[in-house]
Amino acid sequence: MDLSESIVFAGGRFCRYDEAKVGLLSHGLNYGTGCFEGIRGYYNEDDRELYLLQLREHYERLHTSAKILMMKLPHSIDELVELTVELCARNRYEENIYIRPLIYKAAEDVGVRLAGVPDAFAIAALPFGKYFDAEAGLNACVSSWRRIDDTVAPARAKITGAYINSALAKSEAQLNGFDEAILLSQDGHVAEGSAANLFLVRRGTLYTPDPSQNVLEGITRRTIVDLAKALDIPVIERALDRSELYGADELFLTGTAAGVTFIRSVDHRIVGAGTMGPVARKLSTHFDAITMGRDPAYRSYLTPTYSGRKVVA
Ligand SMILES: Cc1ncc(COP(=O)(O)O)c(C=O)c1O
Repeated sequence: MDLSESIVFAGGRFCRYDEAKVGLLSHGLNYGTGCFEGIRGYYNEDDRELYLLQLREHYERLHTSAKILMMKLPHSIDELVELTVELCARNRYEENIYIRPLIYKAAEDVGVRLAGVPDAFAIAALPFGKYFDAEAGLNACVSSWRRIDDTVAPARAKITGAYINSALAKSEAQLNGFDEAILLSQDGHVAEGSAANLFLVRRGTLYTPDPSQNVLEGITRRTIVDLAKALDIPVIERALDRSELYGADELFLTGTAAGVTFIRSVDHRIVGAGTMGPVARKLSTHFDAITMGRDPAYRSYLTPTYSGRKVVA
């Protein structure tokens, strides 16, 4: 993808993608000392509008991640929301997009540490289609790699360097012929997918690992939990065992990139009927309506970018 002409926000100003530079020796690149967000923009053809989903929640999580890494965002949440709307307006994408805010340690020297190292902040946006084929479902396997434990690296923060954990698990799964990996926690409970949270349905109840299972506290995860409650689907957040995956009626993943994507099989065992189950279908239909601005009850989840550039979220 040629992004050279796209507009980014870097070094405190808007500039072209290829004008924004990161030094070869920068701390963030060498030691993985950065944190980031992934935010989706959904283009609605009928409204001729690009809706940014849960922008404020993403910046709140970035704020927490940054604090954990002893970094400070150079802007308030309100300013970040406005900057992102401005960035989208300048790029004027008329398709679905992915927005990547990033704060990283920018010192160009040698020395692993966090305190006292200067930060840099940037936001980029790029066209983004489907991450998974939601209708085909995923053949998943339990990974031989365990999810990072909070005693090793903060699992709750979205830290650039920690994504080596996801990359190892995802690549192992793909090289072994699967689509996706499910990582267990250090003590053997189900944690999540390589870059998405996991949900299980059994006898009409929705289960998902609680945040103490070293999962990333997904924003889509929270939305799905809230949506399920609003639809009178019972939800239980608790530790889940591996064998519960095999006995599930439905399994699905949620995430900014993944949306709601069902798991067709896990470790060669077909889940339910091997198709998208009724609970996943119901939740994904509602979720899709929310992202496209078609559910008035959830309009506050969206920030429109082009119509008067008025910030709603
Ligand atoms: C490791 C990991 N878990 C879960 C998620 C899902 O989180 P969210 O719904 O906030 O995108 C992501 C994606 O951001 C992720 O990278």
